[in-house]
Amino acid sequence: MTHSTEENTPILITGGTGKTGRRIAERLAAAGQAIRIGSRRNAPAFDWEDAAGWEAALLGVRAVYISYYPDLLAPEALGRVEAFARLAVAGGAQRLVLLSGRNEPAAQDAEQVVTRVAQQAGADWTILRCAWFAQNFSESLLLDPVRHGEVVLPAGEVPEPFIDADDIADVAVAALTQPGHADQLYELTGPRLLTMAQATAEIARALGREIPYRQVSVEDFLALMGQQGLPPELAGVLAELFTTVLDGRSAYLCDGVQRALGRPPRDFADYARATAATGVWNQPVMA
Ligand SMILES: NC(=O)c1ccc[n+]([C@@H]2O[C@H](COP(=O)([O-])OP(=O)(O)OC[C@H]3O[C@@H](n4cnc5c(N)ncnc54)[C@H](OP(=O)(O)O)[C@@H]3O)[C@@H](O)[C@H]2O)c1
Repeated sequence: MTHSTEENTPILITGGTGKTGRRIAERLAAAGQAIRIGSRRNAPAFDWEDAAGWEAALLGVRAVYISYYPDLLAPEALGRVEAFARLAVAGGAQRLVLLSGRNEPAAQDAEQVVTRVAQQAGADWTILRCAWFAQNFSESLLLDPVRHGEVVLPAGEVPEPFIDADDIADVAVAALTQPGHADQLYELTGPRLLTMAQATAEIARALGREIPYRQVSVEDFLALMGQQGLPPELAGVLAELFTTVLDGRSAYLCDGVQRALGRPPRDFADYARATAATGVWNQPVMA
């Protein structure tokens, strides 16, 4: 296959409208790579709930970014990711890049499945085993609390090495398009451990206003989220995250970004400053 033909053969980006997928799509498109966005709103539609549509989404793709929604911790995730990966390589995909989480047994099971499926088919695999995304504060669960002016979480003194979704996207693009990343497991963290309270304080400093942080029990947190309309599929995932994943087992730094890209990861303070400058945290909380 010639270089230009390869560039014209699409890369499927599942979750392609989400925190990591959108950034990957932007980078690949800017580099002139053919892409197909995996989204329920696209044609062909891609929906993890509807396996009948997966084949059309995978038709003719050379590589796939696999981002499961809502989370690899969800009980049905493993079977779906395995079936999807099998379909991808059977259809000719030569690279599978899986977005995963650290120290989550269900996520590590999914990593093994994707690795095995790729190996059996003679395809390349890359695992992006990620820390908590900084962008959870600006594009997800914690956006409204920051806008509202108080962050309430069931997390205390355990620190987390927040990773910037821009770094994840840079690594994913390299794994999807460049040589040298086949059969690699990259554990991706930021350069600094921060508690949720310290991360909130970095955002407050960047915004120049106070944002108090309050620790509550998991039960109180879920009740609060329920009142605010948290989709039910996310409640179990969040309870699991705060009770098992954020218990200290992930409170260490890794060199995945440096190893994959030859540069250090972006610090949370830089994320906070750049995001504050966009004005996203100054907009009113949606009803
Ligand atoms: N957030 C973190 O801190 C963190 C840390 C480590 C790992 N992860 C992993 O990251 C993954 C989530 O990635 P992300 O944060 O980049 O995505 P995200 O921002 O949560 O975006 C959601 C994406 O999922 C798509 N989506 C929603 N429902 C879907 C469905 N039924 N079928 C197909 N697509 C659906 C949405 O697309 P449409 O609405 O356009 O269909 C959107 O593109 C999870 O697997 C999680 O385990 C997250």
